[in-house]
Amino acid sequence: MTKKGRVFSGARPTGRQHLGNYLGAIKNYVALQDNYDCVYCIVDLHALTTVETTADLKQNTYEMALDWLAAGIRPEETTLFVQSHVPQVTELHTILSMVTPLGKLTDLPTFKEKVRQNEGNINYGLVGYPVLMTADIVLYRSDVVPVGIDQAPHIEFAREIVRSFNYRFQTKALLEPQMKNTEIPKVLGIDGKEKMGKSLNNHIELAATPDETRLRVMQMVTDPQRMKRTDPGNPDICNVFSMHKIFTPAEDVEMINRECRVAGIGCVDCKKRFAENLNKSLDPFRTRRAEIGKNPEDVWDILHEGAKRARVIAEKTMQDVRAAVQLP
Ligand code: TRP
Repeated sequence: MTKKGRVFSGARPTGRQHLGNYLGAIKNYVALQDNYDCVYCIVDLHALTTVETTADLKQNTYEMALDWLAAGIRPEETTLFVQSHVPQVTELHTILSMVTPLGKLTDLPTFKEKVRQNEGNINYGLVGYPVLMTADIVLYRSDVVPVGIDQAPHIEFAREIVRSFNYRFQTKALLEPQMKNTEIPKVLGIDGKEKMGKSLNNHIELAATPDETRLRVMQMVTDPQRMKRTDPGNPDICNVFSMHKIFTPAEDVEMINRECRVAGIGCVDCKKRFAENLNKSLDPFRTRRAEIGKNPEDVWDILHEGAKRARVIAEKTMQDVRAAVQLP
């Protein structure tokens, strides 16, 4: 089968993945493999811009890779690797930084946001974050980058840097990436308010046991206006119902939708059903995870093999870049 081009995406090593990661990114990464030559990178260097300690960087990288593999990333055809295992990216980052106006970086909404979040640690790396991201994308000659709307300014930035570089050095060495907006509705945490995330501890881990998952689901906030069992509920504003729509068979979703509105089904019962369906959906994932996780060395072998392939592409790009810049 001929593929439509190369997809690149990167994600910081955040350890065990949760439902938000799955619905917002991993699921799409898995699907894209059918039509694209995919390169997926665990961006440990980007993580250094904000982590407080690096002690769990390795474990977090491992857990994330294991989750991705268990979810359906196919390492025979997809290049899965760790960013720092391909040192060419730092060389390209340095070269690209020379065609990057500083003001552009400090004007980015994402940078301003990071400044707010990391007040005591505005390091140089944080400013250059989008430059390193651009290096990621163009080093592997990526055609398409699937990202959420929050990363859109970074892709636009990458395109500008590519144009500046190619113009400044009168070359076609770098390829302008296209953005592929992955329009996924925001996945809310168990609080039913904020986006699901580890830092808010409102997440449900994919690798949790069925019992742990049930406990977590039973803590989910439902329609906040429904106080008593006998009150009619409103599924349209209930986070549990929005999850049912993803994990529950259609005829049950219909029943819940109907019965919730007339108080025929209560929130406790509704959540029990959701926990059951979620566990059923995650069952194959958990089996695969346990299987692959038997030998952690296998996961590292996959990552090292991916880096080997990635380095071949990277070195080829860098030869063109060095020639274009006329480095002696
Ligand atoms: N900036 C992305 C994030 O914060 C991670 C990332 C790094 C990335 N390099 C990338 C995403 C390249 C897409 C393409 O989540």
